[in-house]
Amino acid sequence: MIRVSPSLLASNYLNFGDAADKVIVSGADALHYDVMDGEFVPAITFGQGLLGFLSKKPIDMDVHLMIVHPEKHIKEFADAGARYITVHQEATGFATVDTLKLIKECGCLAGISVKPFTSVYAIEEVLDIVDLILIMTVEPGKGGQKLIPFTLDKVRQIREMCEKRGVSPIIEVDGGINAQTAGAAMEAGANMLVAGSAFFKAEDPKAFVDSLKRL
Ligand code: DX5
Ligand code: ZN
Repeated sequence: MIRVSPSLLASNYLNFGDAADKVIVSGADALHYDVMDGEFVPAITFGQGLLGFLSKKPIDMDVHLMIVHPEKHIKEFADAGARYITVHQEATGFATVDTLKLIKECGCLAGISVKPFTSVYAIEEVLDIVDLILIMTVEPGKGGQKLIPFTLDKVRQIREMCEKRGVSPIIEVDGGINAQTAGAAMEAGANMLVAGSAFFKAEDPKAFVDSLKRL
């Protein structure tokens, strides 16, 4: 099963409610919610407040925390209605396990992410406890970038590591995913696709989601 998670980052910021509705009618599975703090990445985006409103809509909130000290904010994002909460390995340091456990204790699905130049071996120890692995296919921080091809080798690697370990977390890819790149990402082993620009620029978002799911 392939999940599609359009990213709010690429939507029209004058109307987040409409953007969420667009995602819902497209038949996508989740709404990808990129939280940036101006420190882990240069930009600052949205926080718990907006999530609290959007999560009243009938779609899973896929929260991607690109922030330092994510453990400080997990409970608030969970209370605001997150379904998935993904933290970065680079931001959790030695507290990765505790942070993932905290996400689960808060009733959410726990995700771990690595940036393009972080080895997948950095998350080997947590394969058994994560529900989702997010392989960044661009440098985090902004939308509309080109997928970095070698990141798909990491998708392949992590899939093999999971198979060997006998676990099957969701493998999500984020950055530069469009009708041209989605096939290669899925072939490498991704089964959840984030799409920001490609979704919100699509003339027919439903047809776009259908086309990804049919690949
Ligand atoms: C980048 C974000 C992505 C972004 C993807 O740091 O994590 O979720 O929205 O945007 P596109 O699909 O335009 O590359
Ligand atoms: Zn993201």
